[in-house]
Amino acid sequence: MGSDFQQLVQVARQVIDTDVLLGVEHFARGLDALPPVKVRKPAGKPPVGGANKRREYGPVTDKAKALDELRNKELRECACCGLNQTRKNLVFGEGDANAQLMIIGEAPGEDEDLTGRPFVGRAGKLLDQMISAMGLSRSQVYIANVLKCRPPDNRPPRPEEVAVCAPFLFRQIQIIQPKVILALGNPAVHTLLGKSGITRLRGQWHELPEHAEGIGGIPVMPTYHPSYVLRNYTTKTRGEVWQDLQAVMARLGIKKPG
Ligand code: URA
Repeated sequence: MGSDFQQLVQVARQVIDTDVLLGVEHFARGLDALPPVKVRKPAGKPPVGGANKRREYGPVTDKAKALDELRNKELRECACCGLNQTRKNLVFGEGDANAQLMIIGEAPGEDEDLTGRPFVGRAGKLLDQMISAMGLSRSQVYIANVLKCRPPDNRPPRPEEVAVCAPFLFRQIQIIQPKVILALGNPAVHTLLGKSGITRLRGQWHELPEHAEGIGGIPVMPTYHPSYVLRNYTTKTRGEVWQDLQAVMARLGIKKPG
């Protein structure tokens, strides 16, 4: 009974967030009234095909522990690019270490720097709606950024900062071994794929190069960064993002509501 109700709430939330993405504004007002939904993960792995060869790479059995070690032993004291001197908090990334979907943004902003958590500001609210529109919750995905420290005044990451920080992101990907990566905006797409031009690249599947052992071939779906969507809040932009999210859902075997 309880779980039926939770499922109903989950579907309602998904429908509403999809409508928000597609521009049906009036639904959005009810959003905050809904209770947060805890979704129990089904036992075992869902039968999603593709990229199985990657799983042959020495599986990290305790992914959460491996991520903790990366954070606490290798990243915490990192002073490679100097951004550690101006940041308030390291923003390592968060979510399910066993997630099938990894979402990758650019760099922490002010809210993220203050809290030490990725995507908690305005862009984060929209990202939450995007995740929910896919029928998932934040706790079921893993969210990370290319840079782990905030560039002062939210300036774009410098190439030398990306060069020293990206290997940490590749290690996160190597540990998590997601089935799919959703890359948000040009800096993330460029770091992952070595290609630029989000308008041209989005909406199509790309393969991650072998930046680190065992991560080559992971499917990457580029889409617009939520901050860009907020600046260009048109039905067209939101519709394109929704198309990209639907492609991710199809790849993960997630059914659309309704
Ligand atoms: N933008 C990003 O790219 N990452 C965050 O964590 C927040 C905003």
